[in-house]
Amino acid sequence: MRTFLIILLLTPFMLKAQTEITQDSIFYKQKMEWFKEAKLGIFIHWGIYAVNGISESWSFYNNYISHEDYMKQLKGFTAKKYDPEYWAKLIKESGAKYSVITSKHHDGFALWNTKYGNLNAVKQSAAKKDVLTPFVKALRKNDLNVGIYFSLPDWSSDLYTNYTRDIKRYKIEDDPKRWDKFKKYYQGQLKELATNYKPDIWWFDGDWEHNDKEWDVPKVKSMLLSSNPKTIINSRLRQKGDYDTPEQGLPIMKPKSKYWELCMTMNESWGYQHSDNHYKSSQQVIDIFVDCISKGGNLLLDIGPKADGTIPDEQVKILKDLGRWTKKHSKAIYGTQAGIPYEYYYGPTALSKDSTLLYVYVRDIPKDGKVALRGIKNKINRIYVVGNGAMLEHDVFSKVYWSSYPGLTYIDVPKAVIDKYYTVIAVLLDGKIDLYDKVHGAIESN
Ligand code: GLC
Repeated sequence: MRTFLIILLLTPFMLKAQTEITQDSIFYKQKMEWFKEAKLGIFIHWGIYAVNGISESWSFYNNYISHEDYMKQLKGFTAKKYDPEYWAKLIKESGAKYSVITSKHHDGFALWNTKYGNLNAVKQSAAKKDVLTPFVKALRKNDLNVGIYFSLPDWSSDLYTNYTRDIKRYKIEDDPKRWDKFKKYYQGQLKELATNYKPDIWWFDGDWEHNDKEWDVPKVKSMLLSSNPKTIINSRLRQKGDYDTPEQGLPIMKPKSKYWELCMTMNESWGYQHSDNHYKSSQQVIDIFVDCISKGGNLLLDIGPKADGTIPDEQVKILKDLGRWTKKHSKAIYGTQAGIPYEYYYGPTALSKDSTLLYVYVRDIPKDGKVALRGIKNKINRIYVVGNGAMLEHDVFSKVYWSSYPGLTYIDVPKAVIDKYYTVIAVLLDGKIDLYDKVHGAIESN
């Protein structure tokens, strides 16, 4: 009986690697659950490009610098003040639940001591050490999930087809053997990463350079899943992954896909660029984060550490400001689902998992000390300020006994409860939220 039970419980895990898991299967929902609830992740672009402060990989690909000069940055990548434990703590403090780090960008520079090729932090950079493993360890120690960014293209590798935007080394059809060698090389690296770190997320990039067949997508996927059945793969494996990755542009309309994550820089650059001072303010970062929450997605906010391993002050400040806000409002962030349409409240909202609590996000100080909800049919049992506890009064207007129209709910928001960034009001309903959706018609009786 016990063996039978164990087999029964393990079956979904045993089946997963061999069969394609459908997106509505229970196994799939379970595997995506932590991701759906996490809301905030921190992206890290760290590589030799931080030395000169130029764009990651693209600077030589687009001919802003020669490949030779780009590679000279290896000498400046010291990681001298690198403190992975501090990084992990800071990420934790921000309120993020996971972090995704560039194990290898398009330039082919690997942060770990890969036995495939020589272009890595240990063998060729001034750091002379593996800078990935200690970070993954620190993340795990701090109870954060681990995401590994991996670029499929490797523009520095002689085995790879593309070198720069103008120079292509070869065409696969002309030299399939060379391409096979490249596949062994990159898949070997993936296998190392999978074995070493068992990532919770695989964050692929650069899939646009080849098609599914050329990349060997099914083989790669099944290899990753057999090493960790619960691993989550982003959509940049030729759309064969688990969630969408809009980049930089906050979705204006609520995305259709169930799982998505906006990846976004704090300034204009992914990696460290000393001349880029075009930072979003903490308020603006939180604006965007709140928007992601209200549309049911995650924010993957990027930092770009310097070559010595320190994190720029502006970035630390944003992470800390975020942290103060997320800590106070954790109930209204993690595990919530997308809120109600804007017609019912002119701003962002979120709902608790069971849809009985409506979280109303108030960005500014209401002029008359009130915020309005429209068309909420439920009875409201209580209204309070998240992270503050103060009860709030409310009043209903335009509700008449002869109509089912629920009226307008005005909630008093005194100045004393206003938060620096967003005040969050929890509206506890008598059951699942019920919204009035009739076009208001003729008088029913009078
Ligand atoms: C783009 C760029 C890359 C960056 C990534 C982050 O795909 O190629 O430089 O790392 O976006 O999402």
